[in-house]
Amino acid sequence: MKSFMDEKVDAYLYEILPPRTPVLEEMERQAKQRDIPIVGPAVGRVLYQYAKLIDAKTVFEMGSAIGYSTIWWAMAVGEGGRVYYTDGDEKNAREAEGYFRQAGVLDRIEIHVGDALEALAKRSEQFDILFNDVDKHDYPRVFDMAAAHVRKGGLFLTDNVLWSGRVTESNSQDKYTRGIQEFNQKMKASKDWFATITPLRDGVAVATRL
Ligand SMILES: C[S@@+](CC[C@H](N)C(=O)[O-])C[C@H]1O[C@@H](n2cnc3c(N)ncnc32)[C@H](O)[C@@H]1O
Repeated sequence: MKSFMDEKVDAYLYEILPPRTPVLEEMERQAKQRDIPIVGPAVGRVLYQYAKLIDAKTVFEMGSAIGYSTIWWAMAVGEGGRVYYTDGDEKNAREAEGYFRQAGVLDRIEIHVGDALEALAKRSEQFDILFNDVDKHDYPRVFDMAAAHVRKGGLFLTDNVLWSGRVTESNSQDKYTRGIQEFNQKMKASKDWFATITPLRDGVAVATRL
């Protein structure tokens, strides 16, 4: 993934991160070896920090893969908190379950295999945090659902909103790029959210529910 900042500064940002738990570090190694697109430790810490800032107890995650970001959420909500893992791939879910057990957070995570948008549509409650990391052509549809599923003062976080800089290509025919561009425009126009984008890794949008 292309970095938005000087390569040396980017490397430095990762060098100065404190060590993670052994389970998270093993998942980072697996992700690197097997090319699994996880948020990584710098963004993982951002997720954790936002959850702590609003004392989040419930997180609904859309697009969880092997559960790396899920574990950051689970650590942040603490005992008694609830994190919803969703992924379309059963194999990912089984692998994630193993990591959740090793990390001692399995009891606070609910695993859903299937379409994350359908899973969210079935929920009637509002969450403290909604995290969006599904396939990018679905970002506009996720946006349209989000406000109904996050409590006022809660957060809607979305990964990859700068898409390695491809969001600047105004005539792109790529469905993922277009999905993210449409998502960012919807966020800009929305009266439901106060949003910022942090250009860390691939760009993280953080929106507060108004
Ligand atoms: C970028 S990865 C998620 C990485 C994860 N959030 C992390 O940082 O550790 C996206 C995952 O979402 C899953 N996915 C994509 N679209 C989905 C959908 N509509 N419903 C459920 N899972 C989806 C893919 O199978 C993939 O494993």
